[in-house]
Amino acid sequence: MAIVSSSIGCSDSQHSRDNSRVVDAVSLPEDLGSHGEDGLRPKKWNDYIGQSALKEVLSIAVEASNAREEALDHVLLYGPPGLGKTTMALVLAEELGVKCRITSAPALERPRDIVGLLINLQPRELLFIDEIHRLSRVAEELLYPAMEDRRLDLTVGKGTISRVRAIELPPFTLVGATTRAGALSSPLRDRFGLVQRLDFYDLESLKAIIDRTSNLLGLALRPGASYEIARRCRGTPRIANRLLKRVRDFALVKGDLACIDSSLVDQALKLHCVDEKGLDATDRKFLEVLINVHGGGPVGLDTLAAALGEDSATLESVVEPFLLQSGFLNRTQRGRVITAAGRLHFQEKGF
Ligand code: ADE
Repeated sequence: MAIVSSSIGCSDSQHSRDNSRVVDAVSLPEDLGSHGEDGLRPKKWNDYIGQSALKEVLSIAVEASNAREEALDHVLLYGPPGLGKTTMALVLAEELGVKCRITSAPALERPRDIVGLLINLQPRELLFIDEIHRLSRVAEELLYPAMEDRRLDLTVGKGTISRVRAIELPPFTLVGATTRAGALSSPLRDRFGLVQRLDFYDLESLKAIIDRTSNLLGLALRPGASYEIARRCRGTPRIANRLLKRVRDFALVKGDLACIDSSLVDQALKLHCVDEKGLDATDRKFLEVLINVHGGGPVGLDTLAAALGEDSATLESVVEPFLLQSGFLNRTQRGRVITAAGRLHFQEKGF
């Protein structure tokens, strides 16, 4: 067993001292690199763990499209960050035997950006647009005829002598990904033949993902170790893989790479202030202020934000969703309220 000093701990003042949180589901620069997300992504249906309902729908659609030798219908994937939307697009391309061109809506600001991508597509290829709810009006209007009739309507010339030139496109599939399906305009949403939601992963799937990543990283986890990571990763594979890498660092420096057991995982993740339910110092500070300063609520978001030195929008979009999803927090008309489970967790679980 690894020998680690018992002084490892976490001060609450660590909360939001730096902006990157190990439990942030949004991709961080550290997720890239030699063993980054790209190297760990599953490539085929068989390697893709979880999301079974979605996999069944999409694998049938892919098989049918392969049998007909047609392009797959346009696909919209939505759901919280870190659940595998990009990975799913890459699996779709692999199973269709075509390339996937990856971009994101903010990179398609000028009409020529999207025109360049569309006219270079080969038959049946995938065009993956991340954060598709952020598409500009111009880009969106170029996409309508492209998606519906495989036609690009280009305006040539200016003023009274301008005219529209139609360019025929090969059959292709647009895969759009968004964390905010409701923010898509209805004309755009209606042009997707397959609209699928990715859900948070259950513990069994997360354990399997952690075991798979461990194998790819050449780590042998002892029984129980993957469970300790799985229950802290907020239902999100991206966080699971990131926590696993922090555990690997800890084992190398403070313990034994050949003996990663549940106790070592516990110590490693305590160092990163991640508790047994996946809450970090920022979450705990939120609960502390809510309970100790405001008697558990109800209290307005702005008041909480002022006490925490954060802005309300960040609290609402970054901190609150996981506390709500965990059943630790309620949003009521009169303000934020701690739940019985939230109070219990706060009292019982220190770092
Ligand atoms: N790594 C990240 N997400 C995964 C998934 N759904 N299946 C297998 N490995 C993964």
